[in-house]
Amino acid sequence: MGQLFTYNGPVTGTELIGRDGIIDEILAHLRRGQEVLVLAPRKYGKTSILKESLRRLRKEGYLTGFVDTFECAFQGEFAGRLVEAVLANETGKVKNLGKIARPFPNSLLNNTPLEDALSRFGVLQSLGMNEGAEVQRLGEVLNFPQLYAEAKGKRMVFAIDGVGEVSRWNGKLLGLMETTLKRHSQVTYLFSMNQERQRQAVYSPKTATFFGSAKVVVVPLLSETAVARYLIRTLRRGGFRIRLGVAKSIARMVASHPHYVKVLAQAVIDALPEQKRIIEEGDIDPGYRLALNYVRGELEQVWLNLGSAPFQRQVAKAMAVNGALPYSKKFFPQVDKAQIYFALSALERKGILKKEARGCYRFVNPFFPEFLREFER
Ligand SMILES: Nc1ncnc2c1ncn2[C@@H]1O[C@H](COP(=O)(O)OP(=O)(O)OP(=O)(O)O)[C@@H](O)[C@H]1O
Ligand SMILES: [Mg+2]
Repeated sequence: MGQLFTYNGPVTGTELIGRDGIIDEILAHLRRGQEVLVLAPRKYGKTSILKESLRRLRKEGYLTGFVDTFECAFQGEFAGRLVEAVLANETGKVKNLGKIARPFPNSLLNNTPLEDALSRFGVLQSLGMNEGAEVQRLGEVLNFPQLYAEAKGKRMVFAIDGVGEVSRWNGKLLGLMETTLKRHSQVTYLFSMNQERQRQAVYSPKTATFFGSAKVVVVPLLSETAVARYLIRTLRRGGFRIRLGVAKSIARMVASHPHYVKVLAQAVIDALPEQKRIIEEGDIDPGYRLALNYVRGELEQVWLNLGSAPFQRQVAKAMAVNGALPYSKKFFPQVDKAQIYFALSALERKGILKKEARGCYRFVNPFFPEFLREFER
């Protein structure tokens, strides 16, 4: 039997569970023309939430656009994808791009068919312009959503997924985006960023101002009930039965993390004895062991990356074993509290821990503590 739970990409429509509330909130801001920054740790469903928001806005007649910066290797590619994303609003074959492109400042797209324009764009990207020229060009391209929306006489919502990544290519880019995008009267921007990126960016005044005008919406974990209902429904589709209480136990083992709960649920049925169609409490543990194997590769990678920070490794381990903050003297009798605090903050900036409240941290990957405990044994 194939995968019943697929977890290799963003989901929308009925596949997206438990996010109606947060999407309503995001849409309310966007309809008022208020920019939004969606913030969450890895794999909480940022991309899914952005895509579903745009899907709903299209139904209301908005023009939309979407660019994922993780899919762009350099800023020229980002520029190209931005233009493509705007042009994706064209229905059918583009006959007269000139009409849309006339206001485009550097005649890049003037009176040429879509394919030609895009290929010329590709050529420009590969020319290896010096950074200054490339930034200037990007400045022009950034205005394309506004020019297009004006030409069409419609409002647009444009999503930039993983906006924090743009500073990877160019330190000046966020500043440029700030000054450019906020002048767009016809376009409202929807951004997302990994929470740890924001933590890293706290020290950068540029980022702080850029997001100063955006309403921050923080994505929480899912509710246990929403996850349990989803599990029951999906398992039934695959011919399995599960009681609500057992489904809730599965959700609880991964703190209702939207991605890892799917990994666990799939592993539970993969580990089920042949012919067994009813999932009971006793079936969860073998599934959990198997799921840990499924995610071991990514956990090992995280652990490996911590190799240069042995004290952070120790703190992470102590947290996993202890199930609480390792401030007690029995863990690190020789070490100052402040040093432990610094290690925790570093783990947070690396996206390994997430601060839930003052003095309260959780592992972003719910399998990580068990991985570390196994290590100890
Ligand atoms: N609300 C949800 N309902 C169902 N599945 C979800 C939900 N949120 C996330 N997922 C699952 O989790 C995985 C990650 O979702 P998504 O790519 O939207 O998250 P992300 O926060 O953008 O991740 P990344 O940090 O990798 O960019 C997807 O495979 C998707 O199947
Ligand atoms: Mg994403």
